[in-house]
Amino acid sequence: MSDSPILQLRGVGKSYGELRVLKGFDLDVMRGEIVSLIGPSGSGKTTALRCMNFLETYEEGEVRVKGRLLGYRASNGNGRVRDTDANIAEVRRPIAMVFQQFNLWPHMTVLANVAAPLVLSRKCRKAEAEQKAKAALDHVGLAHKAQAYPAQLSGGQQQRVGIARALAIEPEVMLLDEPTSALDPELVEEVLSVIRMLAQEGLTMVMVTHEMSFAAKISNKVVFMEAGQIIETGSPAQLFGNTRTPRLRQFLKPWLDRSLSLAEGMARPGHEVMSSNHVPLS
Ligand SMILES: Nc1ncnc2c1ncn2[C@@H]1O[C@H](COP(=O)(O)OP(=O)(O)O)[C@@H](O)[C@H]1O
Ligand SMILES: [Mg+2]
Repeated sequence: MSDSPILQLRGVGKSYGELRVLKGFDLDVMRGEIVSLIGPSGSGKTTALRCMNFLETYEEGEVRVKGRLLGYRASNGNGRVRDTDANIAEVRRPIAMVFQQFNLWPHMTVLANVAAPLVLSRKCRKAEAEQKAKAALDHVGLAHKAQAYPAQLSGGQQQRVGIARALAIEPEVMLLDEPTSALDPELVEEVLSVIRMLAQEGLTMVMVTHEMSFAAKISNKVVFMEAGQIIETGSPAQLFGNTRTPRLRQFLKPWLDRSLSLAEGMARPGHEVMSSNHVPLS
């Protein structure tokens, strides 16, 4: 890990009209780190994530990617103005995004879906783009689906294509917005396995998730948000094992209760060994 953050947010704020959805958001993401954003629905997790690559315009504070300000440039010594699209694209170049709803193009093959960003934004030639796309599909175990259309795949496979599309641009940071929450429960694990593999390979990730056990196991840092603000941030052991705020305790309670009742169930004779995904942190 290098000393300076690859992604840095300082006092980032965003409003939709009167509604202030993000307030004073600070975050340092170091190279190789996995950061999980958790919090109730509507707390601003997606907005925070989208501000990190300027898919959402923030008005206050700064987002820096490898030290460079994202989205704005100085305006003749008088505040700042929105940067040019070309500069924004250049600064956000190390960042890739995986969406909750996959966002695949239904009329294009899997291969074309993964290759398209390389042709459109990386100016790769078609043959090179397809070669990189094939490698990315292979990485997520879907090389054999290259010629299929998204509708012919399961939700889990579609999200793995979404991850392959993000990987194909060889990102230095991957942003994932609830990558498994649109999936049927039995399809969640195949996507989590791919994310786990990427974590083991050292890819830097910021992930919005409701998969608490997964977040607890995979993350270096967890950020708990409520009403557009960070309420608690720290290691998984701190947030899940030594919760400071009543609000986070309340948010985690259903998950802890469920984990405990499963653990009790397992302790009784005659019960199947439960999935390790449900074990509370010790
Ligand atoms: N395009 C939008 N226009 C107006 N309000 C929005 C828009 N997108 C999100 N919001 C509001 O911003 C708040 C935060 O939303 P979001 O970042 O999606 O939260 P989360 O991802 O934590 O569920 C919510 O109150 C939501 O209704
Ligand atoms: Mg969201």
